[in-house]
Amino acid sequence: MDKANVKQMIRNEIVSSLLKTQKFLIVGNWKMNQTKHEVMSFLDAIVDYDFGNKNKLVIVPSNPYLYLFEDKLRYSKILYGVQNVFPKNEGAFTGELSIQMTKDFGCKYAILGHSERRTLFNECDEFVSKKVRMCVQNQIIPILCIGENLEDRKNGNYKKFLTNQIKEGLSRISGEELKEVVIAYEPIWEIGTGETELPDQVEEINMFLRKFIIKEYGNDKGKNITLTYGGSVKPSNVGELALAQDVSGFLIGGASLESKTFKDISDILNGN
Ligand code: 13P
Repeated sequence: MDKANVKQMIRNEIVSSLLKTQKFLIVGNWKMNQTKHEVMSFLDAIVDYDFGNKNKLVIVPSNPYLYLFEDKLRYSKILYGVQNVFPKNEGAFTGELSIQMTKDFGCKYAILGHSERRTLFNECDEFVSKKVRMCVQNQIIPILCIGENLEDRKNGNYKKFLTNQIKEGLSRISGEELKEVVIAYEPIWEIGTGETELPDQVEEINMFLRKFIIKEYGNDKGKNITLTYGGSVKPSNVGELALAQDVSGFLIGGASLESKTFKDISDILNGN
């Protein structure tokens, strides 16, 4: 075996032993994908799979299939959630989903302020912050998405942009409630492109974001907040990305749609 192979083997060993102990939140955002048949096959393929006890797994399907999740995952450790909620209890809001409806189906998480909702449906920080409030008040964990576009990234404004999104998104919750929130950093220009930032770049931004949260909300709260990364995460890059400092989980789109890749990602993050 040549030196390069030996080095790689040693590196793989180190990576897997590190991943064996670190805890991750793994969230599959299915967006507007999957048919009823595909959802059922996916759930059949994962319901008895050994995902281990270390990481937390969450799948976020389209709303019509939540009843299948409630039924199939009744005795499973895998959690599930919704891709959006409306910040009012009930009323004349055609096409919207109330927090009670998500609770009726056993949801535990809600993705809020995803860049696709911000750009395609003009959701602003103020509106997103009301949804964050609604979730926290109702024991649904909000996954507050933030992320800059390519223009902001290139002109260097992205850090200010991201910290504003965090500040505004969290403006209706107290420091105490921060432990009930997940912040998901997803650079818009990497979503669905197959491209991801280098682990070093992810590390730099996540460290920056955590430092900012610590400064704003105090050491305890900032240190413990779950800060995930998303944007073309897949089995081939998740191991390296997981080594990045201050990344405590992943929000995964395309690669979460197949049960095989979802299981592969879980296996890698278990250090297997
Ligand atoms: P992809 O993993 O398909 O890039 O999607 C990321 C995402 O938007 C998850 O919310």
